Amino acid sequence: MQTLKEILSAQIRAAFAAAFPDADLSALSLDALPAADESFGDYQCNGAMAAAKILRRPPRAVAEAVVAQLPTDDLIAKVEIAGPGFINLTLADGALARHLEAIQADAHLGVPQPGAGKRLIIDYSSPNVAKPMHVAHIRSTVIGDALKRIHRALGYEVLGDNHLGDWGTQFGILIMGYRNFLDSAALAAAPVDELQRVYVLSHQKCEEDPAWKDQARAELVKLQAGDPDNRALWQNFIDLSLAEFNRIYGRLGVSFELVRGESFYNDALPGVVEKLLSLGLVRESEGALVAFLEEEKLPPCIVRKSDGGFNYATTDLATVFSREAEFRPDGIVYVTDERQQLHFRQFFALAKKAGAQTPLRHIWFGLMRLPEGLLSTRKGTAIKLDLLLDEAEKRALELVKQASPEMPADQQQAVARAVGIGAVKYADLSQNPQSAVTFTWEKALAMDGNSAPYLQYAYARIASVIDKHAERFPDCDWRREPIALDAPQSRRLAVRLARFADAVLDAAEQEKPSLLADALYDLSQAYSSFYQNVPFLKADAGIRESRVRLCDLVAQVLRRGLALLGIDTPDRI
Ligand code: ARG
Repeated sequence: MQTLKEILSAQIRAAFAAAFPDADLSALSLDALPAADESFGDYQCNGAMAAAKILRRPPRAVAEAVVAQLPTDDLIAKVEIAGPGFINLTLADGALARHLEAIQADAHLGVPQPGAGKRLIIDYSSPNVAKPMHVAHIRSTVIGDALKRIHRALGYEVLGDNHLGDWGTQFGILIMGYRNFLDSAALAAAPVDELQRVYVLSHQKCEEDPAWKDQARAELVKLQAGDPDNRALWQNFIDLSLAEFNRIYGRLGVSFELVRGESFYNDALPGVVEKLLSLGLVRESEGALVAFLEEEKLPPCIVRKSDGGFNYATTDLATVFSREAEFRPDGIVYVTDERQQLHFRQFFALAKKAGAQTPLRHIWFGLMRLPEGLLSTRKGTAIKLDLLLDEAEKRALELVKQASPEMPADQQQAVARAVGIGAVKYADLSQNPQSAVTFTWEKALAMDGNSAPYLQYAYARIASVIDKHAERFPDCDWRREPIALDAPQSRRLAVRLARFADAVLDAAEQEKPSLLADALYDLSQAYSSFYQNVPFLKADAGIRESRVRLCDLVAQVLRRGLALLGIDTPDRI
């Protein structure tokens, strides 16, 4: 199904083409956009101003010529030109209502399927073995999972790949630390924290004692050569770390189609370097092999160190070639924090030069500051996240107990889990990913603001309206009544419902789940004013059913939309 924005944008582009058949306006955005001020209409097009420059005509005259070409059909009820040349469009109530009925009947709730037949790989979370996940990995997990769900809603086949950091020089150091400093009780209690502790001690010894450092390097060489003892230790580090990571993924409701660490590509690294050499893309410099990226205005990138070891970029190159050969993806998206921007620019440039065909995209985000109390615990982030989620569930339970004192205790717990985890995820996803986020409980759990509990509560309230209708009017099937937009509040609600599909498209195109969160919040605010001002169960028969039907669509959109952010919607709160 096409979105209203797509339908209107196509009509506007056709009108521009008919008005100015000889001009090339292909570089301009002539799209219909949601109206900045609703009193002027539902959508607006700002293209006349930009086209005026190319056409060397006053923008208002351009707008007038375009408007003259716009079809007057049952879709557009009113077209007006405002200010310097804005074209404002008001939809016909009937067309809007029929569009909503089509959305309600559509399995995708009106979301187009541009991804049908296309495959994407999203590389996200990707923590490092034997190190606590840090906040950046948590954000990558939550944002990457939402991007996966959003792309799936658009028809893409998406493979989520957890590219664990499970290979590299640190393992020689860690093996020495493990053999010399391990506290078994601490390992049993908090495995990753203990691995981190012995690693830090061993790393210090490396700095102080050259013999220790040599020994660590020897252990690494043994590991790389397949020594059974060292292999077993390494596997144990992975198992212990994954057990902890998986516990977190389980709590967050996140899963992966592939969990391929860097070690998976180890055997391919020499071949990648050969390829770069044969293409003349790398040169020797002080014993290392280096790619110079002057054309791209990027600093040089080492692909093989002077000691023969390979680098992060080399592994990422091998990973792209392996993914291309095995999955033939139409795109690969990487989700990490902002500090890796240079790495991705360098490796994308090199991959392209080396013949990679797949469009590669790096989605980066700023850091998130956690509440004060949590930052002062000396535990690893995994434990901090556990504490954060525990606290979220505890606080959510208070909310649920207040809202539904009569609910059985185990149901209250289950709802509190959905609300607490949802609140933490939404606090992250509702922000522009590229700004630094400060997490506060007040904002995350605000019942009257842009928060998961607010949206979840709106959903639950609507579910109860629909139940009440079924109880009171068991013989009136609201599904059979046409949707009528007979109050200004219903109309505002309808416009927002129709924008859901565009919000999903925009969130995917700009890789920003926050655009979807914004649209859902906007929708629930419009619903709130509808709910407060428009009677439904007390309205006349027919109108009543039409309004209940509108409620049902709001509920479906909120439920689907929150699911795309990885957030559950309990039927009662
Ligand atoms: N393990 C890396 C880190 O913790 C993130 C890996 C991101 N993915 C990738 N293909 N480079 O910083």
